[in-house]
Amino acid sequence: MSALYIFILATFLVSDISCRRFPVKNKSRQLFLSRRVVTDSREFDGGVLVDENGIISGIFTRESIDELTFEDDYTLQVIDGGDWALMAGVVDSHVHVNEPGRTSWEGYVTATRAAAAGGITTLVDMPLNSFPPTTSIENLKVKASTAREEVYIDVAFWGGIIPGNEMELQNMIEAGVIGFKGYLIDSGITEFPNVEKDELDNIFSTLNGSDVVIAFHTELPINAGNDTECENCEVPDPNLYSTYLASHPPEMELNAASLLASYIPKYDVHVHVVHVSAEGVIPILEAAREERIKAGSKRWRGGVTAETCHHYLTFSSEQIPPGHTEFKCSPPIRNITNKQRLWEYIKERRIDLIASDHSPSIATLKGPNFMTAWGGIASVQFGLSLFWTEAKARGLSLSTVSHYLSSGPAHLCGLQNRKGTLKPGLDADIVFFDPEASFVVTPDIILYKNKLSPYMYRVLTGKVMKTYVRGQLVYTDGIVIYKPQGHLLINYKALFNTTTAITPHEPQEFQLRNNNMLPIATNIAVPTKSQGDLQRNDNVPPNTRNSAGLIKPQGQLLINDNLLFDTTTSYPIMSRRLFRTYL
Ligand SMILES: *[C@@H]1O[C@H](CO)[C@@H](O)[C@H](O)[C@H]1NC(C)=O
Ligand SMILES: *[C@@H]1O[C@H](CO)[C@@H](O)[C@H](O)[C@H]1NC(C)=O
Ligand SMILES: *[C@@H]1O[C@H](CO)[C@@H](O)[C@H](O)[C@H]1NC(C)=O
Ligand SMILES: *[C@@H]1O[C@H](CO)[C@@H](O)[C@H](O)[C@H]1NC(C)=O
Ligand SMILES: *[C@@H]1O[C@H](CO)[C@@H](O)[C@H](O)[C@H]1NC(C)=O
Ligand SMILES: [Zn+2]
Repeated sequence: MSALYIFILATFLVSDISCRRFPVKNKSRQLFLSRRVVTDSREFDGGVLVDENGIISGIFTRESIDELTFEDDYTLQVIDGGDWALMAGVVDSHVHVNEPGRTSWEGYVTATRAAAAGGITTLVDMPLNSFPPTTSIENLKVKASTAREEVYIDVAFWGGIIPGNEMELQNMIEAGVIGFKGYLIDSGITEFPNVEKDELDNIFSTLNGSDVVIAFHTELPINAGNDTECENCEVPDPNLYSTYLASHPPEMELNAASLLASYIPKYDVHVHVVHVSAEGVIPILEAAREERIKAGSKRWRGGVTAETCHHYLTFSSEQIPPGHTEFKCSPPIRNITNKQRLWEYIKERRIDLIASDHSPSIATLKGPNFMTAWGGIASVQFGLSLFWTEAKARGLSLSTVSHYLSSGPAHLCGLQNRKGTLKPGLDADIVFFDPEASFVVTPDIILYKNKLSPYMYRVLTGKVMKTYVRGQLVYTDGIVIYKPQGHLLINYKALFNTTTAITPHEPQEFQLRNNNMLPIATNIAVPTKSQGDLQRNDNVPPNTRNSAGLIKPQGQLLINDNLLFDTTTSYPIMSRRLFRTYL
């Protein structure tokens, strides 16, 4: 037994006693240990030291830990994950939370709880499907006020670009949006119209030279109006996936990517293509990037980036059964050859990041007809396991996972100095991940609101065991810790005239605010003919329970705390089970 282990044991004993006598008012320092510490470039046996503010203060190999001494530090907590991998939390840069307005589809409470359970420590909310959409500073305020008290992990925002809102962009940038997303094709959402080609110059000019990203849903319509020309052909069966796939050929993506690429030499703007499905998009963007870099661009990846999503990397069109519209998304899941190409690009580091594009809706908007069903796949809870399941089978490393799921998206969002890898000075957003464990996706483990999934009953490899946001445990043993303590990664001063991210979580206040909520759905266009359930069948109060039952010991001792413990608060005691040691 090395001196360190004895020291750790001593620390426990001492801190246990000291907790009773002199309650720790400060958060303590924490040392996370693992046989597999994973950064975006390597893997080693060691540990991560986290300071009392939840910032990583050191990364150590096992040998260097043995040399560490923590004299006079009675508040160090050691959390040993053993063989579980210790990784940076996932940054999911593409999530549709839909609140307010379409909260029956998803909401901040359910989305961020599911995300925490999936090892995500930061998500970025997309500007559409909520009502209002995030297309003005006032709308951003509405969204952020809603999110403020409801998020279990850190949340940033995309703004939206719609025709004519250029004058809103600067204010939203000041308020801290990470960038803007626009559509080149009908978004399916009336209040989020797409931009036309002739508006692109104006948009690029407005953002020329700025630090934020402009992201596009990269599909252009083709063959509009030519459907009826075929006289003798059979009417294709709308319940077959192939019918839908034929209506969204790769050319729609390729044409749109070429259109965007034509703006890249003229403007100094970071252009990002969300959810690439057609593999041919990647070489088009690479050519544009090369040109940018030759011209001297110092932006990350030349300011030309692309993401793909778990569903394009997990499924191929051949597998999708008739009537199963939980597989419908846009652009569509394509054939096996296409999927294999995407994986080759990943191996060659030619894609920049992977996101979920978690885009849920209610069951009544789905139905068996691929042509009319609402598109969108919900997966925010399973991204890490989904990617690892496929990546492991292809011989890729956990570092590659971290590169694509944490570091890449953090760079896209300009958060690389706060999030996305294990490095001193960054937030201690940490996941213990058991890469050898497997589990089955079943409705009862799904924490997002509508338990629809093309992954249902699939066996996934790799299981999130614990999630920490800024050093604070938010998910463990299948349970999300009891109250939302995530931060909004925005400019609180600009939006709320306050510098603090801390908000009270009185349940009563929460209820009141929700009853006074803004426009509920009545005037929202339902995106398909089927009448959606757009009522707020809203959030469970955030602080009580989840499907797995009650969360952690929160009973109070009905004693005079002040006299006995020199404090007026009943201090929550963490379960000793968390502090496994290998003694
Ligand atoms: C935490 O401890 C440090 C040093 O012991 C002290 O300076 C600081 O004020 C404490 N913070 C709180 C919130 O009690
Ligand atoms: C419709 O088809 C005709 C003949 O194939 C073609 O010339 C025309 O460009 C098509 N229209 C559109 C909008 O694609
Ligand atoms: C965009 O800005 C760059 C310098 O930041 C400038 O060289 C370029 O001319 C601008 N583009 C347009 C079309 O104004
Ligand atoms: C897959 O799709 C591409 C593009 O549509 C096509 O060129 C290719 O032939 C297809 N491959 C298979 C095996 O169907
Ligand atoms: C912002 O807050 C400060 C102090 O809390 C207050 O004096 C000021 O009037 C506020 N400004 C606005 C625009 O509300
Ligand atoms: Zn999306």
